[in-house]
Amino acid sequence: MMKTATELKGRLVRLRPKRAEDAALDYQWHRDPELSALHAKEPLKLSWEDFQREFKIAYGSKTDSHLHFSIDNERGEYIGECACHRIDRQNSEGEIGISINRADLRRRGYGSDAMKTLINHLFNEVKLDRLTLKTLSANAPAQACFKRLGFVPTGYQEKGSYRFLTMELERKNWVSA
Ligand SMILES: CC(C)(COP(=O)(O)OP(=O)(O)OC[C@H]1O[C@@H](n2cnc3c(N)ncnc32)[C@H](O)[C@@H]1OP(=O)(O)O)[C@@H](O)C(=O)NCCC(=O)NCCS
Repeated sequence: MMKTATELKGRLVRLRPKRAEDAALDYQWHRDPELSALHAKEPLKLSWEDFQREFKIAYGSKTDSHLHFSIDNERGEYIGECACHRIDRQNSEGEIGISINRADLRRRGYGSDAMKTLINHLFNEVKLDRLTLKTLSANAPAQACFKRLGFVPTGYQEKGSYRFLTMELERKNWVSA
């Protein structure tokens, strides 16, 4: 994860750098079997002590190819995260991901607002031209959200027993609401 200097303000959410106090909820979320399954991952098995050690290393690291944000809602509650991975400046593209980890706060517009805010930043400030993402082919809610934002399906990818739908959004097709 990258230390993000920037804070981004959406209509409902604020995207901010990850901070040490996020660790407890991150640990809880990464151990959640339902949430892990939506991300094609096994629930985390690390002890809290080992997790804290890894969190500190990742929290302190810096890279140009990865932008990561924690998502706070309008009440200042930490509700999830979003990121752009594999930023390729030569080809002006990157792969984005999102998770509203608080299941009780889904379907309230936070996910779309966080995505819009991140996409605006990536197209307007980072100057990328193309964003890709992949989602489990069975994850219909996420696909509906991404389609409404303008992402179009580009194909399928198999990885082990997982099947992903790949999608993309080009800057020229981006209409920010
Ligand atoms: C997918 C996700 C980011 C969407 O964010 P959200 O805040 O829950 O969704 P929003 O309220 O912004 O919904 C935007 C649109 O997406 C679609 N959508 C979202 N959740 C949906 C659901 N459960 N069923 C059907 N459509 C859904 C709808 O079209 C919705 O618009 P509407 O409410 O006006 O009909 C969020 O639910 C999430 O993080 N889920 C768990 C992790 C995950 O699946 N991440 C994606 C991995 S690739």
